[in-house]
Amino acid sequence: ISHFSGNTDFYGKKILITSGPTQEAIDPVRFISNHSSGKMGAAIADAFARSGAEVHLILGTGAKKPKNKNIKIYPVKSANDMFQAANSIHKAMDICVFAAAVADYAPKDIALEKIKKEGEGMTIELVKNVDIANCLGKAKQPHQIHVGFALETENEIFHAKQKLEKKNFDLIVLNSMRQEGAGFQVDTNKVNLFFEDGSSLESTVLPKEQIAQLILEGVKKVPVKI
Ligand code: CTP
Ligand code: CA
Repeated sequence: ISHFSGNTDFYGKKILITSGPTQEAIDPVRFISNHSSGKMGAAIADAFARSGAEVHLILGTGAKKPKNKNIKIYPVKSANDMFQAANSIHKAMDICVFAAAVADYAPKDIALEKIKKEGEGMTIELVKNVDIANCLGKAKQPHQIHVGFALETENEIFHAKQKLEKKNFDLIVLNSMRQEGAGFQVDTNKVNLFFEDGSSLESTVLPKEQIAQLILEGVKKVPVKI
């Protein structure tokens, strides 16, 4: 009798997943972040683990943890931490899923002491963070599959397709913000998948577990380059 209850579609495959929000410190008690719950990333991690894969999950602070105990978790705070963790294992991976909501900018300097309330206003200078998906996309080996996410509020399809190309993804998942039951914090989602070859797939509003399964099906459709 086996304890293994799933298929073996990704047996032996090594999967890197980034998930959740990043936190960019302002001072010892404050940070800049976003509303990402990490639910989608956790569901994708569990789906891959269920189908026999070795999953490495790079997880922002406060993000939802997956259920499967075999998943290796790398806790990180900032975008830079997340990049260091992802970069250190990227080479050995077969499939990378960039599901994290990475802060685009971080404070230029982190104050060593708590910033005191002084003037009537204040300005924090921000500098651009490393683009993890873009940077690792440049190092992508022919056998590797990269999956990205996009969340847009206007010209959704145009922007998603632009990111697919720019970041060297094989597949991009466009999250629908307009649809009821989709987006951050909720347990359901509605997505469009756009493939590098121009083909696409559209889901209905589904629980994030089923969206994760759909993304795995999408990964299986990506043509293998040896
Ligand atoms: N991403 C990343 N590192 C960043 C920013 C984004 O790895 N510093 C990844 C996300 O995890 C996602 C994809 O890139 O898979 C697209 O993220 P998104 O925020 O939509 O794209 P940006 O390039 O940051 O563009 P913008 O926010 O201006 O739309
Ligand atoms: Ca962004």
